[in-house]
Amino acid sequence: MRGLTIRTGGAEVTLQELAEPAPAAGELLVDGVALGVCGTDRWLLARGPHRLPAGRDRMVLGHESLGRVRAAPAGSSFAPGDLVTGLVRRPDPLPCRCCAAGELDICLNGRYTELGIVGADGYGAQRYLLGEEYAVGVSPQLGLAGVLVEPTSIVAKAWERLDASVRWPQGRALVLGAGPIGLLAALLAQQRGYEVHVVDRVTGGPKVGQVRALGATYHRGVGDLEGEFDAVLECSGELAADAIAATARGGSLCFVAGAHGGAVSTIELAALTGALIGNRTLTGVVSSNRRHFEAAHSALQKADRDWLDKLLTAVVPLDNYAAAFNGGPDTIKAVIQLGAVPACP
Ligand code: BGC
Repeated sequence: MRGLTIRTGGAEVTLQELAEPAPAAGELLVDGVALGVCGTDRWLLARGPHRLPAGRDRMVLGHESLGRVRAAPAGSSFAPGDLVTGLVRRPDPLPCRCCAAGELDICLNGRYTELGIVGADGYGAQRYLLGEEYAVGVSPQLGLAGVLVEPTSIVAKAWERLDASVRWPQGRALVLGAGPIGLLAALLAQQRGYEVHVVDRVTGGPKVGQVRALGATYHRGVGDLEGEFDAVLECSGELAADAIAATARGGSLCFVAGAHGGAVSTIELAALTGALIGNRTLTGVVSSNRRHFEAAHSALQKADRDWLDKLLTAVVPLDNYAAAFNGGPDTIKAVIQLGAVPACP
């Protein structure tokens, strides 16, 4: 069987022959169906992972997974044929108090691993092992769009925080950046009944189409915005100062995911403290846990399937994997097919 690997220092991804995995107790043997590619993967290709699995010079890439269970242990809640996705983080072997409580996303000691990102093989292989406690069932109704559960889990966590703090829910929501994370954040805003506005720099193409298909308003740049917003999600990695300025008094702003080397705006401390004293809430998210995966799965099940499929602008076979890493302005989500795509019921 084959898989996509990278090494430290940054280099291109390589498709190589790997040993067949042998499940231990409590592990599912999974056939890879699809792997989503995101900014973190492109960043890893450019810079290389911080940490490889112990004693290894390469690691399997990929953390946005969709797979089909090939074999499950006796008594498992999963059965062969079930679609699954996998959590990304694994706790430190001596877990901190957050990891011990299942809040892997808030690991306090920093010795966690992230599959395909830090210190552990990822999901970019034709077969892999998945501990049952890290597996999340995916409805066959989602088809290939099941690969969106992981990125949606990040915005589900952002909305979990916003839901808890926004003064005027169902008011005006602003999303900065119309990449996959931004569009999924806009979807969850629309599902909550907000008036949704999305900013990006593209002038046309699938991103704009997806914004409008949600019934949201597209703006080409922050200069086009009018008024303030009750919930703001900064998903561009570049518009922190604009995001703070656009957040209404009593509103909430969440910085979602990371900059990945983009231009970062400088914020005066006075602007930051001024925003907080204006009864605004500022928060940030980058990783997720099971609860967020489950919320993401529910949100995707409620979404229009055609809209979700249109996010998958590039679906390439494993042999053509390199094409998935060269995203252009019209690429939303690139997906590598690892195996047979599920037929949608
Ligand atoms: C992934 C997260 C991960 C983060 C930081 C993101 O792209 O979606 O699961 O925690 O990168 O490594």
